[in-house]
Amino acid sequence: MISSFGGPEVLRIADVPDPTVGAGDVLIEVAAAGVNRADISQREGHYPAPVGAPEWPGLEVSGVISEVGSEVTGFAVGDRVCALLSGGGYAEKVSVPAGQVLKVPQNVDLIDAAGLLEVACTVWSNVFLLADLRRGETLLVHGGSSGIGTMGIQLGKAFGATVAVTAGSEAKLAACAALGADILINYKTDDFVARLKAEGPGAHVILDSIGGSYLDRNIRALTTDGHILNIGNLSGEPGSLNFGVLMMKRGTIHGTSLRARSAAAKAAIVASVGENVWPLVANGAVRPIIDTRVPLADATKAHHLVESSAHIGKVLLTITE
Ligand SMILES: NC(=O)c1ccc[n+]([C@@H]2O[C@H](COP(=O)([O-])OP(=O)(O)OC[C@H]3O[C@@H](n4cnc5c(N)ncnc54)[C@H](OP(=O)(O)O)[C@@H]3O)[C@@H](O)[C@H]2O)c1
Repeated sequence: MISSFGGPEVLRIADVPDPTVGAGDVLIEVAAAGVNRADISQREGHYPAPVGAPEWPGLEVSGVISEVGSEVTGFAVGDRVCALLSGGGYAEKVSVPAGQVLKVPQNVDLIDAAGLLEVACTVWSNVFLLADLRRGETLLVHGGSSGIGTMGIQLGKAFGATVAVTAGSEAKLAACAALGADILINYKTDDFVARLKAEGPGAHVILDSIGGSYLDRNIRALTTDGHILNIGNLSGEPGSLNFGVLMMKRGTIHGTSLRARSAAAKAAIVASVGENVWPLVANGAVRPIIDTRVPLADATKAHHLVESSAHIGKVLLTITE
């Protein structure tokens, strides 16, 4: 629970009523919840929960189904699952539309699965459904060692792309290389536009969470007909758009948000992830990259860790461990 907007210390354990289970929902006994930057913005008071969502944070969980709504097919009590939520994942129980749930493949640890669905849905819906990344093209992922970045590298490689990443340390770049990243760019010592141009025509697709301070450089790093997918503004800065270069490259800039989508739109993305990404998870080609597990009672510590950016991959809050 967020007791008042502010730093990580405002997070509190609180008793809340059990969620109600609608005809199209399943009830999940939560094993773990993923921590996302959106949770931090929500805690600070900058990102309110959507209408109808619980007030406490948490956009993804894993756990075991304990109740199935009367109209739900394909799930049963006892199924190991992970789910995409609009909020409320920092909890012992969540009720979620069945369309936002996937079964956890047998080879994946149930707790680790809490770190899979938000990043898989974000990367898949942007890089593949929207920008249509093709085999042999170059994908540039900013923040390559982040939760999003580690999934971006794995999916880019699984679908035959050349993957370039930026990160702020050699240790983070080594982690990206271990996941298969081809072009490693330390943004503190290297210019990503110059590096991409030295390696080839530039990036066909750029997955960008840095925003304003990278806008001009992203456009310059783009190939003709390329796509910039903006999913965040970690730089906190406004951008300057060079219309002439964008026009000559016939570039496209998309801004997207997963959380703000309707339940039907989320279900369509989850179904596409189930069809296209889940077989790669089941055969081990794509896996959750987990930095740290923190008990829910220490959520403050987990938020400090994510805000420090010291992590590689995902930070999880464990409920049942
Ligand atoms: N729009 C959507 O639907 C959607 C969905 C999911 C996530 N997101 C956004 O995508 C971004 C990445 O999410 P994530 O969960 O992968 O984040 P994360 O694991 O917390 O990692 C973010 C990384 O960004 C890098 N970074 C670069 N500049 C930064 C700055 N000024 N402040 C903080 N970090 C900076 C840091 O790595 P270095 O040390 O290498 O700099 C950091 O590790 C976040 O902004 C998140 O809100 C958007």
